[in-house]
Amino acid sequence: MLGPGTILFVLTASLHPTLAAWDNLTLSDYKLKQSGYSTTVAALDKALPNVKVSDILADLNHGNPASSPGIKNLVASTAYRWEDTADFNDQDTEKWYPQGITTSADAYASGVYEGEKVQLITWHSDNYDDGKRGARVSFVSPGGKGSGKRYRHVLLVQPTGDDDFQAIKGLHAGGVAWYGNLVYVVDTTGGLRVFDLDHLYKVDADIKDDAGKVGSKYGAYGYKYVLPQVRTYNWQSKSGVTDLRFSFISLDRTTTPDSILVGEYHATRTDCRLIRWDIDYTNRLLKTSGSIATASEAVSHGNTKIQGAASINSKWFLTQSGGDMISFSWRGGKKTTENTFTKVPEDLSYEEGVGLWTLQEQPGYRHVFALDPSKF
Ligand SMILES: *[C@@H]1O[C@H](CO)[C@@H](O)[C@H](O)[C@H]1NC(C)=O
Repeated sequence: MLGPGTILFVLTASLHPTLAAWDNLTLSDYKLKQSGYSTTVAALDKALPNVKVSDILADLNHGNPASSPGIKNLVASTAYRWEDTADFNDQDTEKWYPQGITTSADAYASGVYEGEKVQLITWHSDNYDDGKRGARVSFVSPGGKGSGKRYRHVLLVQPTGDDDFQAIKGLHAGGVAWYGNLVYVVDTTGGLRVFDLDHLYKVDADIKDDAGKVGSKYGAYGYKYVLPQVRTYNWQSKSGVTDLRFSFISLDRTTTPDSILVGEYHATRTDCRLIRWDIDYTNRLLKTSGSIATASEAVSHGNTKIQGAASINSKWFLTQSGGDMISFSWRGGKKTTENTFTKVPEDLSYEEGVGLWTLQEQPGYRHVFALDPSKF
C-alpha cells in the first residue's frame, strides 16, 4: 500500500542507495589520489632544528595517572588517563577532545620505535578559539605497566608558502594510524593526511598566540614541537556512490599485505562502510597505480554511530557511541557486547600480545586502555 512512508523511503533510497548489512561492495568505487611530497619541507628542514621521536620522549612534560575506568574485558593494568593538576587539566578540558589512537606496534612489527614503546593520540579543538588551533598529537610513553606514563603534545601543522606552516583548522583527527616514519590522520570529508616523523621540528614555545613564522622565529601556540603534513590522499568522488566519510582509521598487520582500514561515523545512515587500502611496505605509502590507490576490500555493515574499527585476522571490531562493542566475521557473524564502555569510545588500534587499544573522549571520562579481543 502506498502512503507517505513509501514516498519518504523512495526519496531516501535515491539519496543513499540501500546497502545490506555486511555485504561486499565494488572495489573500484573507492579510490584515493596521492599527492606529491610537500616541497616546503626542505626549506623547513633548513630553517628549524630537526628532532627525533626519542628527543620528544626524553622531554615529556605531563603525567598519565593509572586509572580504573570500569570497562568490560579490560586488559589488566593498561588503563590510564590525562594530567589534571591545578594549572593543567587535559582530563576535563572542553577545549580539546582526544580522538585517534595508534601505537609503535602499528609502526613496526617489533612493537617499538627508535627502541621505545610509544602511543600517539590525536585531539581536535573544533569548539575552541574558532578551531584555529587545529589538531595536536600526544606522544605517550607507556613506561611500566600502570605507572610512570608520561606525555607531551605536539601540534600537527601543514606547510604553506615557501618556508612557513599553519595549524590545521577544522581537522577533526578522528583516527590515526602509524606505519614506519609516516602517520596517517583521517580528514572527515577530504581523505587522509600524511605526516612524516623524519621531519619533526622544534619551535619557539614562547610564541603562544600564533603558529608558523612570526618575524624571524617559528611558533606553534605555545607548543615546543610540530609535526608537518607532507602528503595527502584525496577522496575521489564517483557518481552514484555516497561520498565516503573518513571518520577513523586503523592499521592491520594480521593479514598480508599490511593495510589500513578506514570507516565512517554517521548518526542515522545504515549504509556506512569500512574500506581497506593496501600499503607498500617498501615506501610506507598506499599501493597506487598512476597515483590512484584503489580499495582492496569494501564492505557495508549496517550499523549507525560507529566511532572506531579494527580488523584482526579477518574479524572486525567496531566501537559504537552508546557504549557497545560489535564484532563480525563472515564465518562467525555478528556479536554485540552491550555496555562495554562507560562513555563514548573512539578509534581502535591493535597491539599484538597486548590487546585492542581505544579511548573515551568525554571530559571527566577520558581513559585510554586495552581490551581483550578474544572476549568479543
Ligand atoms: C565477501 O567477501 C569475502 C571475501 O571474499 C567472503 O568471504 C564473503 O563470503 C563475502 N560476503 C558476502 C556476503 O558475499
